[in-house]
Amino acid sequence: MFLKNLIRGSNLKLSNDSRIQEFMNFFQADEYGHEADIGESDLGYGWMHYSMIRLTKPKRILCVGSRHGYIPAILAQACKENKFGHVDFVDAGYGENDKSHWTGVGFWKTQEGGNIFNGFGLGKYISTFIQTTAEFTKKYPQNKYSYIYIDADHSYKGIAFDYKKTWPMLVRGGFMSFHDISIKEKKPEGNYGVWKLWDKLEKTNTTIKFPFSGSGLGIIQKT
Ligand SMILES: C[S@@+](CC[C@H](N)C(=O)[O-])C[C@H]1O[C@@H](n2cnc3c(N)ncnc32)[C@H](O)[C@@H]1O
Repeated sequence: MFLKNLIRGSNLKLSNDSRIQEFMNFFQADEYGHEADIGESDLGYGWMHYSMIRLTKPKRILCVGSRHGYIPAILAQACKENKFGHVDFVDAGYGENDKSHWTGVGFWKTQEGGNIFNGFGLGKYISTFIQTTAEFTKKYPQNKYSYIYIDADHSYKGIAFDYKKTWPMLVRGGFMSFHDISIKEKKPEGNYGVWKLWDKLEKTNTTIKFPFSGSGLGIIQKT
């Protein structure tokens, strides 16, 4: 009986779940940007964020920047499964007419954007702040987080600012993750500079990075 079950399970793919595809479609997962593959139910970098939250079970998470909510939704989903924890999601709500949109589409100022996290029952686990990092950190300087993800203003000046303002909010032992650490080009949306900050952080911190071919994800722990 045991052997029979083992053989039957030999085609097992832990990610083979059509609900994962529904989730990724619902939150419009950017496959290229996150090394993901909707057809294969492959969350890409989402696995990393999901695992970090499932394993470390943080009480509070800060997520800055997202086009349609894919990574904040993953973070909230992990809190939901933990039955613990809450995500503060901050995005300026910029669209293509704003200078620093960094591929933002103004989604967070629409009615759909305002309600999106009610999908998949995530509403209880996430709060959305349509604000810049500057406004949010000025308003809530005492907030403390165990996991911070930054994917907003990708210029060197922008990421350096976000890092400077949110690092004091990270508790000791907590993790800060950065999207797009591998992009060094100038694109229509701007001159990417996350890599430059990452180069500096790597010299003085314990880091882990997933460069792969495209965007790159970097994580550092506050010791
Ligand atoms: C669209 S995301 C980048 C795409 C992202 N990799 C994804 O997977 O969705 C960049 C977001 O950063 C936001 N943003 C830009 N500057 C910001 C700032 N200073 N503070 C907060 N959000 C900002 C924009 O509104 C935009 O929605």
